[in-house]
Amino acid sequence: MSPLHVVILAAGQGSRMKSSLPKVLHPVAGKPMLHHVIETAMALDAEQIHVVIGHAGDRVREASDTYPVNWVEQSEQLGTGHAVAQVLPHLPDQARVLILYGDVPLTRTDTLHQLVDTLDERQLALLTVTLDDPNGYGRIVRNEEGRVTAIVEHKDASEAQRAIREVNTGILAVIAKHLKAWLPSLSNRNAQGEYYLTDIIGLAAAQGITIRVAQPATVTEVEGVNNRVQLAALERAWQRQQAERLMLAGVTLADPERLDVRGQVTVGQDVFIDANVLLEGDVVLEEGVRVGFGCVIRDSRIARGTEIHPYSVIESSVIGENAQIGPFARFRPGNTLAANTKVGNFVEIKKSVVGAGSKINHLSYVGDARLGERVNVGAGTITCNYDGANKHATVIGDGAFIGSNTSLVAPVTVGSDATIGAGSTITRDVADTELAVARGKQRNIAGWERPKKPE
Ligand code: UD1
Ligand code: CA
Repeated sequence: MSPLHVVILAAGQGSRMKSSLPKVLHPVAGKPMLHHVIETAMALDAEQIHVVIGHAGDRVREASDTYPVNWVEQSEQLGTGHAVAQVLPHLPDQARVLILYGDVPLTRTDTLHQLVDTLDERQLALLTVTLDDPNGYGRIVRNEEGRVTAIVEHKDASEAQRAIREVNTGILAVIAKHLKAWLPSLSNRNAQGEYYLTDIIGLAAAQGITIRVAQPATVTEVEGVNNRVQLAALERAWQRQQAERLMLAGVTLADPERLDVRGQVTVGQDVFIDANVLLEGDVVLEEGVRVGFGCVIRDSRIARGTEIHPYSVIESSVIGENAQIGPFARFRPGNTLAANTKVGNFVEIKKSVVGAGSKINHLSYVGDARLGERVNVGAGTITCNYDGANKHATVIGDGAFIGSNTSLVAPVTVGSDATIGAGSTITRDVADTELAVARGKQRNIAGWERPKKPE
């Protein structure tokens, strides 16, 4: 099989987006549309991916510099045929060439395999759809035998041709040597004064090349984005697909219309996700996990049986089995919690390790800390981990009890089974089993009279 080269057209301005951000960088599911397309091309094992850029090309390139693609400039946008022609010097004659679009983000690889897998020089493979309203699209013209003979752009079409409902998606595949023969001969004498890529269909048919036609599973796969209304529609379509995939994998969604996935989610069975949840990056929810209303979980792994109560925000953390988190818990990056832990309301936790069965139930800040097992952290406890220049660690041994409203001034170590009296400011290490109390002594003054307001 000859090498596959993918050409992605992304030079257009996208003026109807009314945006200073280039159109192909507008995100679907948190990722620029162009990156969806590049990743699709990568999934096809393309030997090379060429992206044609023009308007705001430098910004597009900078935003995509982690991808292994060949950037090709099209300095003037003279039409889709002209855009593909810019890539010709980079294409080996025998290469299979697949044309994709930077503003058509949701094409599935299965659909594209149909076009490229068996492609040879006797064929041109075309992806078409049949629409109730074909207005604006290029029409697929067939002869009496039903063979495709040409594509006619809407603006150039006759009344009879405009009645055709089968339209060009723009996505096609053909061997490079044909492009090299046909593209230089295109003319721009047409209604839009452009060099139409679609004119190669007529040239191919005239040479006896078979125009092989395939259809996508859904129209969403070939829908492009010209304005923000269409962008939002594709976002919803993608989200609906994610929701369906999760439900079919054994997840109950309180409302499939109110889940947002921006990344990869891996799930066990019998996960429950309440409404208005956002899952970002790489998220793993093991069997039986419950995620409450309004939670945000990013790049985290939640072990089986754990419950995340409403409005918790969890970032880059690993949470063990049967833990109870939130409501209103905030996990900043870098936490590892063991099984049966509890992190309750209005607790902020960062870069901390929490041992099995330990509890931080209310109103605390725990940062750069290592807690052993069965530790009880009272309400209002603060690890004072920052001295204005450096971060310091707090270490708390197994079974320690930290009284409410304690300040632990790091670096500091509290031993196993030690007890800290409520309201203490702990600046020195506390040994195993010791009680530490560090607060002003209470004085009671009998017969004291409050100041009075003047008459
Ligand atoms: C094109 C097809 C039409 C098809 C439709 C599907 C042609 C002539 N027509 O029409 O048959 O039904 O797509 O949406 O191909 N681009 C460049 N450089 C250019 C011109 C365009 O990079 O010089 C890029 C644009 O950024 C855009 C894509 O190519 O992403 C399509 O161009 P556009 O002008 O929108 O083509 P349509 O008129 O929609
Ligand atoms: Ca278009």
